[in-house]
Amino acid sequence: MNSQHWWQDAVVYQVYVRSFADANGDGVGDLNGIRNRLDHIASLGVDAIWLNPCYPSPQRDHGYDVADYLAIHHEYGDLDTFDALLAEARERGIKILMDLVPNHCSNDHAWFVEALGAEAGSDIRSRFYFRDGRASDDGSDPHGNPPNNWMAAFGGSAWNRVAAGDPQWYLGTFTPHQPDFDHTNADVQQMFADVLTFWFDRGVEGFRVDAISPVGKDPALPDAPPPPPGTGLLQVTWENPYTVFRPEGHDVWRRFRATIDDYMDRHPGRDLMMVAEAYMNGRPDLMAAFVNDEQFHQAFAFDLLLSPWVKSEIERAIRDTVDIISIGSSPTWTLSNHDVQRVVTRLGRSDATDPSTVTNNAMETGSGDVDVVRGTRRARAMITLAMAMPGSLYLYMGEELGLPEVLDIPDDRRQDPVFHQTNGERIGRDGCRVPMPWTDDPSTAFGFSDVGNDESAPEPWLPQPAWWGTHAVDELDGDENSILELYRAATDARREFAVPHGLVAAIVDLGPGVVAVRRGDLVAVTNTTEAPIALDMENDLIEIATPVFASEPTEMHTPGVIPPDSTIWFVS
Ligand code: GLC
Repeated sequence: MNSQHWWQDAVVYQVYVRSFADANGDGVGDLNGIRNRLDHIASLGVDAIWLNPCYPSPQRDHGYDVADYLAIHHEYGDLDTFDALLAEARERGIKILMDLVPNHCSNDHAWFVEALGAEAGSDIRSRFYFRDGRASDDGSDPHGNPPNNWMAAFGGSAWNRVAAGDPQWYLGTFTPHQPDFDHTNADVQQMFADVLTFWFDRGVEGFRVDAISPVGKDPALPDAPPPPPGTGLLQVTWENPYTVFRPEGHDVWRRFRATIDDYMDRHPGRDLMMVAEAYMNGRPDLMAAFVNDEQFHQAFAFDLLLSPWVKSEIERAIRDTVDIISIGSSPTWTLSNHDVQRVVTRLGRSDATDPSTVTNNAMETGSGDVDVVRGTRRARAMITLAMAMPGSLYLYMGEELGLPEVLDIPDDRRQDPVFHQTNGERIGRDGCRVPMPWTDDPSTAFGFSDVGNDESAPEPWLPQPAWWGTHAVDELDGDENSILELYRAATDARREFAVPHGLVAAIVDLGPGVVAVRRGDLVAVTNTTEAPIALDMENDLIEIATPVFASEPTEMHTPGVIPPDSTIWFVS
């Protein structure tokens, strides 16, 4: 069976616009940079690109603080550049997905600026959450304490006082620069319907919808109960039952979906979608509540991304993710994104094989020493396993270069609000956003910045390490043992051996340390141990099987032996 909708088995490449390619030499990635590098993306055999937010923004959370949902950020280009990018991608058979941020906007958004200047209780303020503060502890200020005890996702209180002495405070679930919208407000509802339509009219085929879990709040905004003991600093918000996965949120997604379905009715031939970002790992029941015919088409399964390198945990992640098939949806795999430490680093940590390191929050990062060689081997094995799975797969730019996390960015160059809002207690996400290396030439920021002959061109917005060029596209291109060539070959192999089996998948037990998934006549087998494992050749699944693809291609020649930390696909 082949898929009914293009997105059901798509491979999508995520572009963090600021860090992908800089065509005008200002140290910041841009849309023309992406246009110049479309052949690289096409060479990976992907079906679509997901662009991180590229709307006008003061960039306090690098675009997740949107000042205008209907334009392009000036450092990145303009709507004409966007249209050209979309057309050139389409010529290569690649669709464009945008990133939609519904929970909040930037405090520079015209509506919020207007709301700050409006009366308490006014219609203008009701587009956001403005509430009176409570009396300060010593009673000296009748509104000196926040309206409730909610904590912000990136540290500190979720409430911000309008001005010293003002009775009112506003809610910002992430940072003070990201005021939350109240989606029960009719203006807000209409605005998002218009935003969806505007981008669909330009030819966008769908949206990654940002941070869906805090959309919709208990209308009484009660104090949150204390989080479970041991909850990490960046996890406290996600334990608040009055703002996370609220029933009120479903109304918002039903409205979005109605806009999409209505658009498709009026534009036959368009096959639009939205994919939800929410950490619902280990909760297939919760995912089913959001992914259905009335709400999201897909939701990222972060289970594999959060899994340690342990058979039982990887199997659990696969089982839960595949479960979504039973409710008529398709699994949505991913190993990396712009919020988490890169997969090479995560799997290369000394504690990557410790099941107790399982976390629900990808930003609460591991601390074990990193062995990049081992991490790379495991990352190759993990992507080869993921490529065999039913459903769709989202890749994060640079994954195909085996980029490790850059862990030693100097504090004074760190940009992520997570670092600043926690006063450096959490290093944040800059390390996975370091601009891409294209060549080994440090004078052009490793090919990232097109600086021409300008010797005074600015440095890239985040510093690149001296060794960055060893991972450059030009260095890996054509080297059949490189991870880049593995990614290219894997999307071909996926189309040939995995996609034809539709949504069929079953975990089979081939012994300790071995993860095996069967899909029709394809079996993908991963050895999670540090020793080679000889499979039982009497096993019905393996007996007559031929190896067809492997994460370590040079090592697939001994029949039935899976090298350490590697994956082989067999076909019978
Ligand atoms: C999502 C984004 C993240 C952003 C946050 C607030 O988790 O992926 O980058 O900081 O939402 O919008």
